[in-house]
Amino acid sequence: MSQSPFVSKCTTDALQLAATTLLHGNLVAFPTETVYGLGADALNIQAVARVYETKGRPSDHPLIVHLHSMQVMDQWVEDVPEYAIALARDYWPGPMTLIFKRSTLAQDFITGGQDTVGVRVPDHVVALALLEAFHTLGGSGIAAPSANRFGHVSPTTAQAVSDELSGYLRSEDQILDGGACTVGVESTIIDCTGPNPRILRPGGITIEMIKESTGLLPLQPTEVKEVEEIRVSGSLEKHYAPAAKVFLDVLPNTGQGFIALAESKTPEGVIRLAEPNNTQEFARDLYEALRKADEMGLVEVVVEQPQGEGIAIAIRDRLERASKGR
Ligand code: TXA
Ligand code: MG
Repeated sequence: MSQSPFVSKCTTDALQLAATTLLHGNLVAFPTETVYGLGADALNIQAVARVYETKGRPSDHPLIVHLHSMQVMDQWVEDVPEYAIALARDYWPGPMTLIFKRSTLAQDFITGGQDTVGVRVPDHVVALALLEAFHTLGGSGIAAPSANRFGHVSPTTAQAVSDELSGYLRSEDQILDGGACTVGVESTIIDCTGPNPRILRPGGITIEMIKESTGLLPLQPTEVKEVEEIRVSGSLEKHYAPAAKVFLDVLPNTGQGFIALAESKTPEGVIRLAEPNNTQEFARDLYEALRKADEMGLVEVVVEQPQGEGIAIAIRDRLERASKGR
């Protein structure tokens, strides 16, 4: 595979340059612990418009603002309940996005015209170093959706970002290579505008962890699905989809790709794409395995879904949507 001109290793110089590049209104794709994000200065309307163009994403879908510390959260949000402070204290930096009433800083071009905004402190040394450098230069926050074309599988490596977006980036833009993402599915999104936390998108911060931290029972995605259908693009019925057709929990046939826990054997003639040892590894390896299916030109992929709670809920949520196609 050819090395993209956009990709750079994360030396101190490269990070400083990336922060400056962002402040000048260009785009920088960067690693987080969940998936790679396509970053833009969250106060720059033109830069944010380019994020939408580059992704091919409808402009009324809101973006998450990434911050280097919860201390600067108050610039972006209002009306923070006690339970959200507990969540931020316990799980930031981490795979969790909190939704609050927006401050005046969060303009319509970030929130898709809604009166709420999502904020997140990611748990990745490169993301945090970039956010800190950006903050030191006077920046306020980096808006970043997953660095894929709209509706596709999120990228978990710099190579995957390059494959998705190189054709749409400009020479001033950059992709920071911070290795493979460790969580592998997107952050848990929690609406903190009501009396109880509401999970809008399941992820690495699980229901149990939310209960543990807040002492409150979070509302589940199924209970809010109807209302949030338009607001959370990641909750669209069809999303996170590879070009190959995805089938769930059926016996794989000859010529089909197969993703399942290592304990499941591969039938003869079936192409094994991943054999994770547990649900954590399943989440980490899933998107790369779906990309591999497309690279190999496979037409169909069978996935045996992991059972149980925790991050398995997020995996099944993404697979359900991937199986609906693009
Ligand atoms: O793990 C992640 O969250 C990654 C990394 C890069 O941080 N980002 C990510 O962004 O997955 P994106 O844009 O691909 O998905 C964010 C989801 C979208 O479905 C968006 O609609 C929803 O968050 N969202 C953002 N702001 C929101 C808001 N104010 N209310 C409801 N949903 C919101
Ligand atoms: Mg996305």
